[in-house]
Amino acid sequence: MAELTAFVTGADHGLGYALTEALLGRGWRVVAGRYAPQESRLATLAAAHDERLTLVDLDIGDLRSVREAAEATLDRRPVIDLLINNAATLGNDGLERRISVGLPYDTIAETISVNALGPFRMVEALLPGIERSRMRRLCFVSSEAGCIARSHRSSWYGYSMSKCALNMGVSILFNDLRPEGYAFRLYHPGWIRTFMKGEEDLNADLSPAQAADAALGYFLDAEVDEDRLAMRDHTGAEWPW
Ligand SMILES: NC(=O)c1ccc[n+]([C@@H]2O[C@H](COP(=O)([O-])OP(=O)(O)OC[C@H]3O[C@@H](n4cnc5c(N)ncnc54)[C@H](OP(=O)(O)O)[C@@H]3O)[C@@H](O)[C@H]2O)c1
Repeated sequence: MAELTAFVTGADHGLGYALTEALLGRGWRVVAGRYAPQESRLATLAAAHDERLTLVDLDIGDLRSVREAAEATLDRRPVIDLLINNAATLGNDGLERRISVGLPYDTIAETISVNALGPFRMVEALLPGIERSRMRRLCFVSSEAGCIARSHRSSWYGYSMSKCALNMGVSILFNDLRPEGYAFRLYHPGWIRTFMKGEEDLNADLSPAQAADAALGYFLDAEVDEDRLAMRDHTGAEWPW
């Protein structure tokens, strides 16, 4: 079988790095979006995988950065089979603020631009490459925090609103692109021991490697009704909207 190519955003650490490693382990070629060029882990991984791992600098909150990354990618890898929109920010500055103390509007707007709009900047810029693939699979790492039916927080406005908006955007994109054979995976990855809160979340349930295995099980292996969009989690359970 010809090698397939995946693009993973936010691959410096956490789930994105673990997804990159796991895809390489499954024999994929990977293009990994690097947000923090000073971090050396991705560079070390790339050195160990030669041509199979390509690094591109990428800020999904910046349309110019996304377009430049897409151009550099498609020059080297004209066909993209799988796009995993993983990158996101928690928006830590003022995250816990409740309405009585005033909300951090600038951080909230930035969080929504990155988490809700970033994945669509990516799909748009890589569309010519994804269109050339027979697989045409678009994966979106969302969160339970975006689920209105199970809303329980009294803060975390930016992050929760951003993931809710992401889900709606994916539903519109599904209506737009499903008739052209694109396949969709909308996903809550579980509670992972990553650095989203600025330090390692040691209380969380899953290691990044466990979370990546579960995610790829859903993105690549699971039987899915492609004509019905659903959000699922790492246990396979479906989430309400
Ligand atoms: N951890 C959890 O328990 C959990 C739960 C539910 C959903 N999720 C979702 O899982 C995904 C992965 O999160 P994670 O836990 O692995 O967190 P993480 O370790 O913080 O990974 C997110 C990655 O995205 C990068 N990033 C942030 N802003 C970016 C931008 N503008 N452009 C490109 N990359 C950017 C981060 O870089 P920097 O760190 O350098 O900023 C980081 O490398 C996210 O979509 C998150 O919302 C996580």
